[in-house]
Amino acid sequence: MNSLIATEETAKTRSRYNRIAPVYDAMESLYEGRFAPWREQVWSLVPSGQVLEVGVGTGKNFPYHPARVEVTGIDLSNRMLARARQKADKLGHIIQLREMDVQQLDFPDDSFDAAVATFVFCSVPDPVRGLRELGRVVKPDGRIILLEHVRIDRLAIIGRLMDLLDPLVVRLMGPHINRRTAETVQQAGLEVEQVEDLARGGLVKLIIARPSSLIPD
Ligand SMILES: C[S@@+](CC[C@H](N)C(=O)[O-])C[C@H]1O[C@@H](n2cnc3c(N)ncnc32)[C@H](O)[C@@H]1O
Repeated sequence: MNSLIATEETAKTRSRYNRIAPVYDAMESLYEGRFAPWREQVWSLVPSGQVLEVGVGTGKNFPYHPARVEVTGIDLSNRMLARARQKADKLGHIIQLREMDVQQLDFPDDSFDAAVATFVFCSVPDPVRGLRELGRVVKPDGRIILLEHVRIDRLAIIGRLMDLLDPLVVRLMGPHINRRTAETVQQAGLEVEQVEDLARGGLVKLIIARPSSLIPD
């Protein structure tokens, strides 16, 4: 993606999430019962050590963080982060939170044993760039674990409907509903280890990848 477009899109994404931050938890409560076991599965796969949580949002994953990890959480939206801070304090959860863009991470190479993102790469303007950054900051033997809703490719008509509705959903809520994130992970030069369908039709996927030593420029 052209860097000017990416910068404009990033500013729009930030303001959309700042706008919906006060109602995000209420909106998501409709689905949270379904998401909870998936969140649990994701965090059960995380190795011990330093973990980067990308797009922490309001901190919905905090109750699932295992004691064996030290988590640094980042998000583009300061208002989502403010809610995450409140949630962490309420839970007595120790976590470093920083306002940061995954497309341009302010961490040295090989800083983390793992990176986790749940329902984030649907919103990142240039997901290839963001995923490459994860490949850079995660140690070569580390893991990148993603939980993402994606385009339904198995039913052509549903996939086309998702394409049609996508611009409207982006405008109103922020995320794209027609991304093919497992393919994007490969495109970013990461080594895909596992892709598991968690919801009917392949709508939600668990994607586990390793940073590859062959990250393209
Ligand atoms: C749909 S919410 C998911 C929040 C949380 N992970 C969850 O599971 O509820 C997407 C989050 O990703 C953040 N985000 C979007 N683009 C980002 C970027 N480029 N860098 C960091 N965070 C980003 C948004 O601000 C938002 O908080």
